[in-house]
Amino acid sequence: MNAIEIRSLKKSFRGLYALDGLDMTVPQGAIYGFIGENGSGKSTTEKLICGHLVPDGGSIRLFGRDYTDPGVRVRVGALIENAGCFPESSVRANLMMQCINLGIKDAAGEIERVLKIVRMEDAAHIKFKSCSLGMKQRIGIAMALLGDPALLILDEPINGLDADGMRIMREILVDITKTYGCTVLISSHILSELEKIATHYGIIRQGKMLRELTAADLEGRARVLISVKTSDDVQAFELLRRGFPAVRYEDGQLNVYGEEDPKKVTAYLLENGQAVREVRKNKIGLEEYYVELMSKKEA
Ligand SMILES: Nc1ncnc2c1ncn2[C@@H]1O[C@H](COP(=O)(O)OP(=O)(O)O)[C@@H](O)[C@H]1O
Ligand SMILES: [Mg+2]
Repeated sequence: MNAIEIRSLKKSFRGLYALDGLDMTVPQGAIYGFIGENGSGKSTTEKLICGHLVPDGGSIRLFGRDYTDPGVRVRVGALIENAGCFPESSVRANLMMQCINLGIKDAAGEIERVLKIVRMEDAAHIKFKSCSLGMKQRIGIAMALLGDPALLILDEPINGLDADGMRIMREILVDITKTYGCTVLISSHILSELEKIATHYGIIRQGKMLRELTAADLEGRARVLISVKTSDDVQAFELLRRGFPAVRYEDGQLNVYGEEDPKKVTAYLLENGQAVREVRKNKIGLEEYYVELMSKKEA
């Protein structure tokens, strides 16, 4: 069964389509990385799933049922925009208020459970306004986790976090899926971070799903390239173009695509009188795949 199944979803604002027939399939247990440029329709999709907006057309099914089914609504937790916390109240007090809103019976126990998941057991007494951005994001996740949802929707939760904050966030998300069997939909434009945790990807562009793929698909597409730096990149570029099928000058280095052996590239350059300063074997990951996909569709 799929956690989310969206078909031909449409939503317009003042006559302009933000979502223009979006299809999306999120399998149960996935960490689904939802990727797209600003304004492509990620938040709109998430708000529709959460029932914060009403669609113009199309269907949304969650766990095999229509998304308006009350039985399914209680299984969705979300963090969209901000946690909606009271700044002067403590983390624990904010969680308590949300438990009351949701009618959660064993509130104290549930609060301890979610605090543990987001690794904030020792910070529950701190006022929300005094928390760091990373802590606020984690509190937002804790709020969304109250009531043990089966689907967690997170809108750009790693935006603005430092390396350490991102690492903790990654650990929390993996924990949520592995330990609690929760499905996570996470939107982001920080592709390199998503790549470390996502099991599935959906790439949205101008309100339409451009491509959905699994982490294994992406791995299968991963291509090797050899990056070199020489003392004369202009000349080396001309040389390499004659010797290899695809060469590009990117980010201050020459990238030779479709070649696996760095020695072949250096030997070729040396034979032709070019000194090699640096050579590395790289792999095309999500970021490169995404850029490639975007540029193709634009052409
Ligand atoms: N409440 C709104 N009123 C008018 N236009 C909106 C509203 N919400 C979103 N939009 C427009 O819909 C498009 C998609 O926005 P959004 O879903 O926020 O994109 P993303 O989250 O991918 O950056 C944008 O062009 C945005 O300006
Ligand atoms: Mg957004």
